[in-house]
Amino acid sequence: MEAERKPISVAELPGVGPSTAAKLIDAGFTTIEALAVATPEELVAIGIPLTTAQKIIKTARQMLDIRFRTAKEVKLERMNLKKITTGSKNLDELLGGGIETKTITEFFGEFGSGKSQICHQASVNVQLPVEQGGLSEDGKPAKAVYVDTEGTFRWERIEQMAKCLGLDPDQVMDNIYYIRAVNSDHQMAIVEELFSLVPKENIKLIVVDSVTSHFRAEYPGRENLAVRQQKLNKHLHQLGKLAEVYDAAVIITNQVMARPDVFYGDPTQAVGGHVLYHAPGIRVQLKKARGNKRIARVVDAPHLPEAEAVFAITECGIRDPEE
Ligand SMILES: Nc1ncnc2c1ncn2[C@@H]1O[C@H](COP(=O)(O)OP(=O)(O)O)[C@@H](O)[C@H]1O
Ligand SMILES: [Mg+2]
Repeated sequence: MEAERKPISVAELPGVGPSTAAKLIDAGFTTIEALAVATPEELVAIGIPLTTAQKIIKTARQMLDIRFRTAKEVKLERMNLKKITTGSKNLDELLGGGIETKTITEFFGEFGSGKSQICHQASVNVQLPVEQGGLSEDGKPAKAVYVDTEGTFRWERIEQMAKCLGLDPDQVMDNIYYIRAVNSDHQMAIVEELFSLVPKENIKLIVVDSVTSHFRAEYPGRENLAVRQQKLNKHLHQLGKLAEVYDAAVIITNQVMARPDVFYGDPTQAVGGHVLYHAPGIRVQLKKARGNKRIARVVDAPHLPEAEAVFAITECGIRDPEE
């Protein structure tokens, strides 16, 4: 299996001398995977000559065996994608089995619709063994990164969710790397840093809750739309790379207003509502329903039907509703 491959350091890459290796490592290109998805321009920007940059990237891709695959191979790969349970069978089914690795899953919806609760639950559930819907294998714990932009992360909630699953809450909390992003530049810098943290710590889930709030606040209104979307696209691109290269799941959230007329009338909301519009991934709309029930709907996924699922937010976290 590919996952068994030992990480190779950039210094071992043929044709990379010690000074080039130092430049690469300083800039966060600490693994062959990171180099394989880099652009020559990114390496030129850190002082590596263009032809060397092109050679390094080509070699990294060869080492990772990035090549044409048949559709059948692609099918097998996609079918074997690992999934994290949400805690609700209904919601898992809607998502085609759970939250997929190598994919960005966007949850969008109004305030209180359950976006952050799903993020908390997934950060706990990723740590479960594979047989129970997590990504921990062979006694190696799968860990999570939680990038919080709104200050809504609650360790108490993690503790509660862990206890309900019979897990050791302290251990579960030890395996969640929390960081508060103070602005959009910081948020983007954090993701750059993840290229070294993710492989080192066996991180299998990256949460950005919410992905849009800083961008909206810093680039308000129609006049800033283009630059905001451009920055956001770059951010999403980096998150997508992380997911792909390290076989990790990425969850992003995005708060939008409930009323569709407001939603479509306001350009800020429209952009917010279409974060992933041009990026590959799964978009899930969340809506409040009666009591603790919530309705999830998958929107414009290329391979999933437009269907709905009902789940509940309980003391223990995300569950199927009791009938
Ligand atoms: N300990 C708890 N027990 C039961 N329900 C909870 C608990 N904590 C939060 N909730 C539910 O989760 C909702 C908040 O969901 P949240 O995911 O924070 O919304 P958002 O979509 O704004 O991120 C609350 O309104 C409440 O219904
Ligand atoms: Mg929230």
